[in-house]
Amino acid sequence: MSKNNINIQKFRSFFPILKTKINNYPLVYFDNAATAQVPYQVIEAMNDYYAHYKSNVGRGIYTFAERTTAEYERARLEIAKFIGVDPQNIVFTSGATDSINLVAKSWAAYNLQRSDEIIISAVEHHSNFLPWQELASKLNLTLKIIPVTKQGNVDLDQFKAQLTSKTKLVAIVHSSNVVGGTNDVRLITQLAHQVGAAVLVDACQSIAHQKIDVEIIGSDFLVFSGHKLFGPTGIGVLYAKSERINQMRPTEFGGGMVFSVNFKNSEYRSFPKGFEAGTPNIAGAIGLAAAVKFIEREIDFKMLAEYETMLVNRMIQGLLKIPGIQLISFNPIHEQSAHAHLVTFVSNAYHAHDIAAYLDQYGIAVRAGHHCVQLYHQQCNINASVRCSFSGYNTIEEVDFVLEKLQTFLQTK
Ligand SMILES: Cc1ncc(COP(=O)(O)O)c(C=O)c1O
Repeated sequence: MSKNNINIQKFRSFFPILKTKINNYPLVYFDNAATAQVPYQVIEAMNDYYAHYKSNVGRGIYTFAERTTAEYERARLEIAKFIGVDPQNIVFTSGATDSINLVAKSWAAYNLQRSDEIIISAVEHHSNFLPWQELASKLNLTLKIIPVTKQGNVDLDQFKAQLTSKTKLVAIVHSSNVVGGTNDVRLITQLAHQVGAAVLVDACQSIAHQKIDVEIIGSDFLVFSGHKLFGPTGIGVLYAKSERINQMRPTEFGGGMVFSVNFKNSEYRSFPKGFEAGTPNIAGAIGLAAAVKFIEREIDFKMLAEYETMLVNRMIQGLLKIPGIQLISFNPIHEQSAHAHLVTFVSNAYHAHDIAAYLDQYGIAVRAGHHCVQLYHQQCNINASVRCSFSGYNTIEEVDFVLEKLQTFLQTK
């Protein structure tokens, strides 16, 4: 997946884990929506920190510590540039879940009042549902859930019908981790802004598959996790627009977030530092910056999208030849210029867990369960599905191998 042509073997060679054998079979990693693998560039950047300059940030004045602070802030700069925002508008968190909870605790809890409304969609990950359900019950807010179309996108007519002057927040997934599809978050933001509502975009699933430009989307908040972007676990990002930053209050208190401490009252630092209390995940930030640099050097998002969609189409065509398969994710073949990176399905012959366990015997890693989206599974009257999610290092041969194993297993019943 180079800048100018697709060289899958070269792209694969960046990821050491892909050489792993599972049960004597080469690993086929189809669980990229849960977490993507890391290239050696990320591993080396983190090793370099641990082996050569590990120290804390913003504290010491010795050479090492100054280097660490500089690398940590350079990471913020690189990651901010990657999504088209000012580094002063992003806070490092432990992941998207942490970022969304931070918005709930430090913005929504102070700016929403009884009978205000929050709108989410019917395919939200638990991380973008539970914080709002909790807050709604605490503050007596109304939580409205907008159904999605067959493509997994927010039903825009229903959305428009539900928007009112009481809507204070629209928290919406950019691309669903179960149904796929991509919401027009720019349009959703424009509509929400017409009634004065803030918009939070959960970019967890889109960030590694398409170019994200927050300036173009225009949302008030945007969140994602580093580990889905070829980066390490334990690091995530919260972007907040300046006017929303002014409405936020720190909710975690401790070292690093304070200017001056007094017995009567203390003075806190502004965003982002005031929202990063304690020692941050320094190695994680450095690793995520290395992942972003890797993407900028090695990935053309347009080519990646075409390639992943081709894998999805091939997988779907094969699956639909197997009796008893029902597709849960959207089928990009029915939509022009649609982009997809995952296929979710159920079989009427075997439970999703049995299918995943069978495939595991052949070194194939797929996800089985509700993928932290129980509400949508309930609406589909199923309790679990199988998900194959792709990245640029997956191959046509892997798709065919998985289909062959599925055909053998599912047709034997
Ligand atoms: C759409 C979406 N939102 C939020 C999350 C939560 O991410 P994390 O567990 O890294 O905080 C995920 C993870 O699967 C996701 O797919």
